Amino acid sequence: MQPPRNIVESLEQAGQAGVLRFWNDLDDEGRRRLARQLEAIDWAVFDDMRQAATAAVAEGVDPAFLSIASTPTGQRLSPDDCSAAAWRPAGEEALAVGQVGAILVAGGQGSRLRCDGPKGVYPIGPISQASLFEILLGRLAAIGQRYGRGVPLAIMTSSSTDAETKAYFEDHRFFGLDPDEVLFFRQADLPALSIDSLTMLLDAPDRIALAPDGHGGMLRALSAAGGLDWFARRGIEHVSSFQVDNPLASPLDPAFLGMHLVSDSDITTQVVEKREPDERVGVIVEAGGVCRVVEYSDLPEPLSRERLADGRLRFHAGSIAVHCFRLAFLAEAAAGKASLPLHLARKAVPFIDDSGERVSPTTPNAYKFERFIFDLFPLARRVTTVMIDPAEGFAPLKQPSGSTADSPEHVRRAMVTQARRLLSRVGVAVADGIDVELAPSIIDEFDLRHMTPGSRIERPCVVIGESVVSWGDGTPRSPI
Ligand code: UD1
Repeated sequence: MQPPRNIVESLEQAGQAGVLRFWNDLDDEGRRRLARQLEAIDWAVFDDMRQAATAAVAEGVDPAFLSIASTPTGQRLSPDDCSAAAWRPAGEEALAVGQVGAILVAGGQGSRLRCDGPKGVYPIGPISQASLFEILLGRLAAIGQRYGRGVPLAIMTSSSTDAETKAYFEDHRFFGLDPDEVLFFRQADLPALSIDSLTMLLDAPDRIALAPDGHGGMLRALSAAGGLDWFARRGIEHVSSFQVDNPLASPLDPAFLGMHLVSDSDITTQVVEKREPDERVGVIVEAGGVCRVVEYSDLPEPLSRERLADGRLRFHAGSIAVHCFRLAFLAEAAAGKASLPLHLARKAVPFIDDSGERVSPTTPNAYKFERFIFDLFPLARRVTTVMIDPAEGFAPLKQPSGSTADSPEHVRRAMVTQARRLLSRVGVAVADGIDVELAPSIIDEFDLRHMTPGSRIERPCVVIGESVVSWGDGTPRSPI
């Protein structure tokens, strides 16, 4: 069996015929596997990748930084802020009439966290050990119930998370969501390129090294899967996207949605105050009157350290990747010719060398390419930034246990602190050093209204609406 003619021609034109060097040694199944991978390559995108890599070598620092003005002043959102109360009704109305959908990006591999499989299955509940999916989607189901309209959810997977994610949803009965209102769509993969030769690497004799195309792959993948129409058919006008790694995420917070609607924005995005230069969050900046996000890895060090007269970082609007989009804006962007730009990262990617030996480099040997969804910001007519309290909406799980930031311990602590705060607002005290967790069905104080003010929790427990389940025996107890 010879390699298909069209594949050989495309590879030769692109100077990539080397990936066929083990073809004669492969069995039929291996040849079919490699041919399938090669057939799926979009050669126009491949050209863009090579151009991006060449430009990165030639240019160094992005000249666009020279025109960066500052961080835009965002609207603040906190439970005590009276303007938040003013925006709430508009958001609640949109939820009640079923105008809002959600997109969960869950295609990442969780490699920094060193977890196998989809990040969403990571057990993070401080007491229940509930997974990220159980917490985030359980809350989505609760919001649907409160407002009497289920929230349609599109969930982005990748080749490495797709099958396991779907099986996990089935096993957990879709976390209380209506399966007909959940759409899975898969982002594309892009090949990694050798830094030295800009050629594709082989991960095995019959497999090229591929990686997901970044969460910006969402736009093209959602549109190709018919997801934009799927939302439109359900009467959805706005979709709020969020990342699987943040169990405190509140993409459907009514005040946030209300702000989006009242400000008539194409995009409304949640930010937290970035306090230290090395915090790993992208920042919202204004350049030439246009709002965009500069990724933390792209912000030049001296700029990241600059401070304002009041001591705040000059670039302090840290993106937490919760964005509400007008659906029509996404549809326009998807139909437009321009695709989101490619960002490249230098990574150590294991590969098979010419003699067929596997090499595991310890320093970067390859470029990986990603698109970022926030590169849509400059295309928007209006972007609104909403500054939230991180204690209420941002506890990202990025690093393995024992790390100095963003580890499972940090996230669980943030969840317990939030639970204690909410309980204290309804007059329930929690003994010192005792962990409590709120079930995903509890959205806010309203769901705790039946608890007895003045009562006290003495044992670690999960609070489920009106009752408390003790840790250990698991028996539901009467309201406290
Ligand atoms: C990301 C943001 C950063 C933001 C921070 C907040 C990017 C490029 N950066 O950084 O601006 O401040 O989160 O926590 O997004 N994902 C996919 N497919 C992919 C890659 C990622 O679905 O191909 C998903 C992951 O599952 C995860 C999310 O996107 O839910 C974030 O990816 P990650 O690589 O962890 O981004 P960060 O570097 O932490």
